[in-house]
Amino acid sequence: MTAQLSKKSEAWSARFSEPVSDLVKRYTASVLFDKRLAAADIEGSLAHAEMLAHQGIISAQDYADIQRGMAQIQSEIAAGKFEWLLDLEDVHLNIEKRLTELVGDAGKRLHTGRSRNDQVATDIRLYMRSAIDDILGLLRDLRLALLDLAEQHADTILPGFTHMQVAQPITFGHHMLAYVEMFNRDAERMADCRRRVNRLPLGAAALAGTTFPIDRERVAKTLGFEDVCRNSLDAVSDRDFAIEFCAAAALVMTHISRMSEELVIWMSPRVGFIDIADRFCTGSSIMPQKKNPDVPELARGKTGRVNGHLIGLLTLMKGQPLAYNKDNQEDKEPLFDTVDTVTDTLRIFADMAGGITVKPEAMRAAALQGYATATDLADYLVKKGLPFRDAHEAVALAVRTCVDRGCDLSDLPLEELRKFSSLIDADVFQVLTLEGSVAARNHIGGTAPAQVRAAIAHARAQLS
Ligand code: ARG
Repeated sequence: MTAQLSKKSEAWSARFSEPVSDLVKRYTASVLFDKRLAAADIEGSLAHAEMLAHQGIISAQDYADIQRGMAQIQSEIAAGKFEWLLDLEDVHLNIEKRLTELVGDAGKRLHTGRSRNDQVATDIRLYMRSAIDDILGLLRDLRLALLDLAEQHADTILPGFTHMQVAQPITFGHHMLAYVEMFNRDAERMADCRRRVNRLPLGAAALAGTTFPIDRERVAKTLGFEDVCRNSLDAVSDRDFAIEFCAAAALVMTHISRMSEELVIWMSPRVGFIDIADRFCTGSSIMPQKKNPDVPELARGKTGRVNGHLIGLLTLMKGQPLAYNKDNQEDKEPLFDTVDTVTDTLRIFADMAGGITVKPEAMRAAALQGYATATDLADYLVKKGLPFRDAHEAVALAVRTCVDRGCDLSDLPLEELRKFSSLIDADVFQVLTLEGSVAARNHIGGTAPAQVRAAIAHARAQLS
């Protein structure tokens, strides 16, 4: 959709002697992007008009006319018939002008006791509140999908890594639960941010409040805000709530990006831990054999733009004296793009989690390489009375022997193992198995299948 530039330009008001140039008009107008706030703008205006009528500031007839006009405008916008004009600068003036065309003087009275400064701050908050609610729903969907995957693979063993080197065996269910934890915290942050978003700026007017006998609490109640902003200067000017949202969104994307990195590695034929359903992958225009994990790669890439938006908004805010400055018009594009990117990404990932095929044999084969149970052997010796540092050294020597011979710890016969410590007995082989290793880490937060199942139940209960 585009906005029209009218043939004849008019000056802003009687105070001005000439109109702005077309370039300045384009430069200062926001309607091309802020028309996205139309639904919030109408909702806010109706609540304001209802209060004005209730307080006797406008008549009941004016309010009825405004309601009728706004209903018409809503249907024009829904039908794509609303004519957005660049001359009218932004979503607020476009809607107000059309309202006046439709209902006359009542439309001209709507702006009584209000400024675009408190109006736009209200619109953004309404828009963000619903965006956060969508994101919270999607974070829930994603966690439920990951919990399903975790449940299917509570017993599936793969190597856990530190420094990208095989460290200890873990269960795939446990690995998925790590991401569930991250997304739990992301949801907490979003919900917390929503509390500060959900306060009403309207009534602050341009910056100092208004001389009309308004009832801000009434408007807050109509719009479902939990409180009113308590200082008019702050209400119209600060966008910290948007910055906070972008910070929370950047963390969501950071977690998505970490997961993406793993999905890409796991899907590489050299690793082969998983396959991702074809509907999330694309081929190559030249190499017929290719199936590329484009979705995780793009999500990893898009994390950069969301991080950029956060820095953009912080920079936008830092130099602004009180109260409103036009700089703030620049908050919208980064904010909208952040909402779109996070929303689309979460929607796709919630779906894609169900399209991941786990390859337990490949995971198991990898876990059997790299002496993943060496710590278990050290712990075994400690339990037989050896101090941990001595046990660590004994096992290091055993691993070194295995490296030289190209075999695993469990391939060494008992007599060989006993050369490293006479405390080693036949029961050691149980300790050296992958299953024994994971099952032994049986405490809250541990990787044992039993703990994974308990953690899944706990997470599901929290989500229900
Ligand atoms: N389009 C403006 C914005 O996004 C609306 C507020 C303009 N207020 C003003 N006094 N110019 O911030």
